[in-house]
Amino acid sequence: MNKKLLVTGGAGFIGSELIRQGVQRGYGIAVIDNLTYAGDKIRIKGVEEKISFYKADITNREFVEHIFRKEKPQIVIHMAAESHVDRSIIDATPFIETNIKGTQVLLDVSKHYGIERFINMSTDEVYGEISEGQFEEASPLDPNSPYSVSKATADMLGRAYCRTYDLPVITVRPSNNYGSWQYPEKLIPVVILKGLNEERIPVYGTGTNVREWLFVSDCVDAIFSIIEQGKIGEVYNIGSGEEKKNIDVVKVILGLLGKSENLIEFVKDRLGHDLRYSLNSDKIGRELDWKAKVSFEEGMENTVRWYVDNMDWVKGKLDYLRQYWGKVYN
Ligand SMILES: NC(=O)c1ccc[n+]([C@@H]2O[C@H](COP(=O)([O-])OP(=O)(O)OC[C@H]3O[C@@H](n4cnc5c(N)ncnc54)[C@H](O)[C@@H]3O)[C@@H](O)[C@H]2O)c1
Repeated sequence: MNKKLLVTGGAGFIGSELIRQGVQRGYGIAVIDNLTYAGDKIRIKGVEEKISFYKADITNREFVEHIFRKEKPQIVIHMAAESHVDRSIIDATPFIETNIKGTQVLLDVSKHYGIERFINMSTDEVYGEISEGQFEEASPLDPNSPYSVSKATADMLGRAYCRTYDLPVITVRPSNNYGSWQYPEKLIPVVILKGLNEERIPVYGTGTNVREWLFVSDCVDAIFSIIEQGKIGEVYNIGSGEEKKNIDVVKVILGLLGKSENLIEFVKDRLGHDLRYSLNSDKIGRELDWKAKVSFEEGMENTVRWYVDNMDWVKGKLDYLRQYWGKVYN
């Protein structure tokens, strides 16, 4: 019989890709998502009738227990989070609530339901910045933003529950994801949206911050390798090796849109902005025979085309986004 996955944050960017791939791979799937500004069930249209969806907050212990009792999942994939660094700088409160307390609730409840695996979605940002070289799984955690501190705490809680209670936790630390359905507050969709509208494109500082760009379907493919063959108690970095300066990413998008680079406007840098993230992903390659398949060029072409074709979805978010942009770009 196929295993049952319980996916938290399944109406989000990466979670929805996980659901689409999970359904295709024949897994049973239950989702917990409270549909924050970042959650949207339209992302899972077409597969929704094949899954159970619970609109619920992961900090609601009673309801989470009810879902575990009802669904009896074998594997928990914990993706629900407040995920945007800039928002954590404006107000850390929901980051502490969801990312730390919510993770604790899921870990606590999981202890009592005989699960086989708990995949704890962390991030490369927990390592902090690195000017040269790469972070390995054993590198110390040294997070700098309220977001990355909340994720590092959740990451360490997961490892503590594995060591202390033998909860079968596996920690995954992916680099920056991009692709279709990403909420248009993140760099790539913001640039596509503003570029298409020929609005000024805000770039923090001098645009020299470096991120490692991982296409979302590759990230989810890696997570399935980890679900199926990963070792309990281990940490896996998931990176693509595609490191790019922000300014170069913006220029690639403008080139694909056929728009002028004069739209670029450098704005006051993000507070505490990490200069560079870079992952050594040899372990997942060596142990699970995984590597990213989609090149940056192919992924960007695919992503830009998707946003151009799905601008109505993005436009539906614009009123909310404009209020928020007023707070971050100045
Ligand atoms: N996007 C990236 O580049 C990236 C990179 C590395 C790691 N991650 C991690 O991957 C996970 C998914 O990221 P994403 O980009 O898909 O995020 P996202 O913001 O697109 O989606 C998050 C989802 O979680 C839900 N959610 C938030 N708070 C909740 C709560 N209290 N209860 C239930 N549901 C809640 C939201 O409604 C949303 O559907 C997060 O844990 C994030 O930290 C993301």
